Amino acid sequence: MIKPVKSDDEEVHDDGPASAPSGHDYASVNDPHRHRHYNSYFQASVTLNIALILSSIFMSVLIHKMARESASSEHSNEYSSFPELRWRPLPDEKEVIHRVAFGSCSSQRMPQPYWDIVTVFEPDILLLMGDNVYGDCEPLPSNNTPVDPIAVEKACAPLEQAYRDMANHPSVQGAAGRIPVFATLDDHDYGISDANTFNPYKDVARELFRDFFNINDLPIDGVYRSKTWGPTGQRLQVILLDTRYSRSPFRTTGDPTMPFEPHQDESSTNANDTLSESKRMLSDEQWTWLEARLSEPADLRVIVSSIQVLNSVTPFECWRHIPAEQTRFINLIRSKSALLLSGDRHVGGFYWNEDGTIIQEVTASSWTHTIPYGAFDNCSSASECDENDPMRDGDFVRDNHFGSLEIDWENHTASGSLEEKRCW
Ligand SMILES: [Fe+2]
Repeated sequence: MIKPVKSDDEEVHDDGPASAPSGHDYASVNDPHRHRHYNSYFQASVTLNIALILSSIFMSVLIHKMARESASSEHSNEYSSFPELRWRPLPDEKEVIHRVAFGSCSSQRMPQPYWDIVTVFEPDILLLMGDNVYGDCEPLPSNNTPVDPIAVEKACAPLEQAYRDMANHPSVQGAAGRIPVFATLDDHDYGISDANTFNPYKDVARELFRDFFNINDLPIDGVYRSKTWGPTGQRLQVILLDTRYSRSPFRTTGDPTMPFEPHQDESSTNANDTLSESKRMLSDEQWTWLEARLSEPADLRVIVSSIQVLNSVTPFECWRHIPAEQTRFINLIRSKSALLLSGDRHVGGFYWNEDGTIIQEVTASSWTHTIPYGAFDNCSSASECDENDPMRDGDFVRDNHFGSLEIDWENHTASGSLEEKRCW
């Protein structure tokens, strides 16, 4: 059942009944006093029409027919180190996907209501966009050069324990058997904050990720993957990028409150050591792979980048810090019927890029610990606290939430929302 698309006017109001998935009984759904900014016990919902017009989707051109990964290779439970979890397999490639849930940034040290909430939401698939656990590895001995793999494994005991804690959580166990999960990594489950290609823990983290989710088809240089479901006219492709394994370091400012700034554009005549053109967000192999995936036929593509793509102002991690790669990516997905999803920021938001072809992005972060007003700044309202970003549409969402995408194949539209609900 596709729920009705709502108008932007409803966004700032508490609107539980209309936005709650039909047939589900959420607490406080009729409570007139709920308010999302001040009381997370009350249900609120922020909905924005993505207005993704799928009429353009038929422009997709098949250039190469690439071998499709086998859906059965996901969650085979063949060699799991986490026998507590029995993941439900991803849908068969012939199945039509109507409802997608997505989220990020879930600390195993905090309450985990969203595994239950998303289970009740009954998505066809759940996309986990990184920071699926928080398990930063411990510092390595200073003389650990070249890197000693045994020392790295030992240093990453906290990351393994983080996965162990999640695996033993009853809500995670319950969800694992009911919701097909398709996941990628961000920095804290890659073992170190703001991880890039020089992350010494990346291969150990990749192995733990593989074991936790029982994945058999990872590339050797990261965790990027794609799947396609549905017949012609209802074909959904989901592409999960890896923006960490091969990423160049961002240009640092020295100010921890505003840590990064863009590398110089290639047109710059100074700062030769930071030319954007020489920096990489994705490896050459991942770029080639991505181009091949985008040449496959799809009626709607969902592309997950753990870090934000369209954000044009933030000093925190995002694609804008490597301008040449951001431009390459946006040009590549233009006219590809692609919706971008991202996490990482611990705030949610909707982004638009209207530059010939509209590209839209939904940032959903986090499940367990968004940044409330006043957490780091002396401010108390969206106008004072939120980034002044012309690419963003609406205020940041600062309550814990997950994202939902409802696809109406018949009418060629999709509706996205950031949902905040209580389950007790
Ligand atoms: Fe995070």
